Parts: sequence; structure tokens; C-alpha cells
Amino acid sequence: MRRYVAAIDQGTTSSRCIVFDRSGRVIGVAQREHEQIFPRPGWVEHDPETIWRNIEFVLEAVLDRVGIGPRDLAAVGVTNQRETTVVWDRATGVPIHNAIVWQDTRTDRLCVELGGEFGPTRYQDRTGLPLSTYFAGPKVRWILDHVPGARERAQAGELCFGTIDSWVLWRLTGLHITDVTNASRTLLMDLRALRWDRRICAEIGVPEAMLPRIRSSSEVYGEIAAGPLAGVPVAGILGDQQAATFGQACLSPGEAKNTYGTGNFMLLNTGTTPVPSKHGLLTTVCYQLGAQPAVYALEGSIAVTGSLVQWLRDNLGIIHSADEIEPLAGSVPDNGGAYIVPAFSGLFAPRWRPDARGVIAGLTRYVNRAHLARAVLESTAFQTCEVMDAMRADAESQRMRLELTTLKVDGGMVGNDLLMQFQSDILDVPVVRPVVNETTALGAAYAAGLAVGFWSGTDDIRANWAADKIWRPTMSAADRAAYLANWNKAVERTYNWV
Ligand code: G3P
Repeated sequence: MRRYVAAIDQGTTSSRCIVFDRSGRVIGVAQREHEQIFPRPGWVEHDPETIWRNIEFVLEAVLDRVGIGPRDLAAVGVTNQRETTVVWDRATGVPIHNAIVWQDTRTDRLCVELGGEFGPTRYQDRTGLPLSTYFAGPKVRWILDHVPGARERAQAGELCFGTIDSWVLWRLTGLHITDVTNASRTLLMDLRALRWDRRICAEIGVPEAMLPRIRSSSEVYGEIAAGPLAGVPVAGILGDQQAATFGQACLSPGEAKNTYGTGNFMLLNTGTTPVPSKHGLLTTVCYQLGAQPAVYALEGSIAVTGSLVQWLRDNLGIIHSADEIEPLAGSVPDNGGAYIVPAFSGLFAPRWRPDARGVIAGLTRYVNRAHLARAVLESTAFQTCEVMDAMRADAESQRMRLELTTLKVDGGMVGNDLLMQFQSDILDVPVVRPVVNETTALGAAYAAGLAVGFWSGTDDIRANWAADKIWRPTMSAADRAAYLANWNKAVERTYNWV
């Protein structure tokens, strides 16, 4: 009897494998971090081989920990950091360059060139995305422009491009595929047709011969070829934010979630028609179950939230472990006047300012490390507030249903009470955390389990969702307005830096 489904979650900072039972409960977890490589300011890379080795490690480790074998697993789902770009040799499987990570800004000039007289919105109608360093297409172009001989080899079909899902699927099954959600983050896919757009691929400079096949998010793609899970079907692929939306049971138009990871990502299910944004959000594929029509989302992507806590730890040494931030921030009653705007990769949604770089504003002799710790947490809440306002504005201008009477949250930072209370205060909306906070992996497990009949339908997903904790707003309107006014002043100081 196959009692479980496993999900591989290949994230920005670590790779994990989680085993779930039919009720969506976590049965076991294994995790391993990988190195963040910063070759120059603004550049961020990962070693794809290390990522693959870590996945092999966590697969074996989780089976050991739970005491199960491949026969206990009905299926495996894959979820991943999106946009991060790998190019490898089709014959040997060896990458020709480190993966260029979604946060990397090396393609900033290229994106301006590609926009030309049309500017950053050149491909927005077709792809749902502005021309930004964030997305994969220009990263592929950069690799082909900089690795000797790569363009010719790509044209001859000797190289494969993939986002991390494709890389993992290739190593697990030998297939060169991606799913609609990951493809929708490349700037190369026609959002409505769900196919690579020939003209855009040619203009950005990505040969079609290197592109993976686009599949739905939930179907049996193939079986794991070797290793501890040999023979288990891989049956779900979702970009990590789409997976969290699925895992949070945001299955009807108007339902949204916000995930607090290295960055923050709020997704609003808009149903089976893509909705263009007028307020700085992305239009993206939310999921597609087998042959059913794709479901779309509006997304507010924030580049730096949790990674600012890491920066406070690794670059400034103000804390020694991420857990220390909450007691330190809680040791002072407020931010002491300090605001941190972490525009490390420029600013993403809703402002899309590639020219921005980070600032700490409002410093006086009074400000100490505890105030800075507080300002780090608060910056996450302020950025989320901007995205929520954009979502409300889009919903209003398009007469869309929007159920933001509470905000469903998940991810690493939602264990932080101080942040969650401040988030609720700044949004003036209750914030609710589910019992199973591992929504990203759970979403990928659901996609895989649905494809093999382990779960019978999306009603099972709804039935499994339950609230764990709710934070309610307590801040006065005047205080909220004062905080937001200061935040806005600080953000404006990040502009026109590069
Ligand atoms: O778009 C980037 C996003 O997929 C990264 O997510 O959780 O690895 O920070 P995470």
C-alpha cells in the first residue's frame, strides 16, 4: 500500500525533501543548504552539480529518517526556486556555466537594450512580465553570449536550457521538460497559448533547439531512473510560489497567499483568464492540472525579505543565527526612527526600479543594533503592504473578486510573532497561518498525488487546510500612516543609484 507522497523542494538557499501522508501531514523532512556564490556586486550564482548532489542526499536521508522505501511512495512532486537558469550539455549532462540565480542583476543593460524604443513593457502583453533581470530568458542569452562556442552549440541542439525544475527532472528521469508555471517565468512563453513564443525567443536570442517541452503541472511525466527512489513516478511540477498557492488551497478566483522566503511572493488566483496588471504586478500561470484549462494568478514579487535577515547575520554579524532576530528586535519598543530598504537587486513589485540600491535611512546616534533588527523585519511588512495595495488597485480597476479579508501566510518567517503582528498592523487585516506551514512542498505533493489518484480531487486539498494562528490588527490609523509615510520617504532615496 502506497501511503505517502514525497516532494522535492529545491529553493534559493537549500534543497529539501518532505514526505506527506493523505491528510497532508508532514511525516519526515531532510534538508541541505548550498553555497550562495557572489562573483561580483549584483551577481548571484549556484553550482547546479552541488544542488543535484544535495537532492540525492536529502532523498536518501528522508527515506532513512521515516523508515520507508520507494514502494511506500505513490508519487514524487518537484517544486523549485523559479527563474534561476541552467544550461547544460545534452550529451554529457554537464552544465556549461554556474546557474544564474533569479536575484542576479547582470542582465540589466541587456534588458534595457531588448526593450529598445518600446521600453520594459515590450513583451508584457504576450508573457505577463516586464523586461527585468529577474526572468530567465535574458539570463540564457547572457550565458550564450559569454561562454565561447555556446551559441553555435545551442543552435545545433547540443545544449539544454532549463529552470531548476528542468535540471532536477533531467537528472531524475532523463526527460527535458518544464511545467507551465516555470515556463511562464522565462519571458519566452505565450501566456495564453502556453507555448514558446517563436518571435520573442528569436528577439531575446534563445534558440528553440535548447528549450524544454512544456507540460502541465500535474501528470505522470516519467519514473525516477535510479537511486533510492528508482521506479517512483514523478507526477507534479510547480514553481515554488505557485506550489505554495496550491498548498494553501487558494483554488478559487479571489483567493491569495503570501509566502515569506528569501523574498516574499503574494499570489492571487484570478481563474482561467490571464488578467493584465496596471499596478506593477506580474501575470503568471498559477497551475494546470493535466488537460484542464490553466489557472492564472496576479503576483507581487519582492526580491529581498528573509535574505535581509541572512545579510544582517552574515554580512554585518549583528546576529549569529536567524532566530536571534526576534528577541533582539523585541528588546526595543520601536525602530528608533530607522528604516532599511533592501533594494539589493533593484526593487521588484510593484515599483520595478532596476536603478535602485539599498539604503538605511533615519539614522541618529540613538539607533542601535536592536533598532536595525526591527527595521529589517519591518521592511518585509512594508514591502508586502505595497504589493497588497497594488493587488487591491488591480482588482478594483478590473472589477475582480478579491477575498483579502484575511491574508493567508506561510514560509520561514511566519514563526516570527513580532513580524506577523506588525504585518497585520500595517495591512490592517488579520493574518492567518495554516497548521501545515510547509505549503510549498505540500502543493507539489498535491499536484503529484492528484495525477496518480492518491487524492481524488481539489476538494481533498480544501478539506486538509486548517488555520493554526491568527494575528489581528491593533495599530491606530495615525501610527500606520506615519510609518508608511516614513517608509515611502526612505524608498525614494534608493532611486537613480545605478
Ligand atoms: O521567484 C523566486 C522564487 O521562486 C524564490 O523562492 O522560496 O526560494 O525564495 P524562494
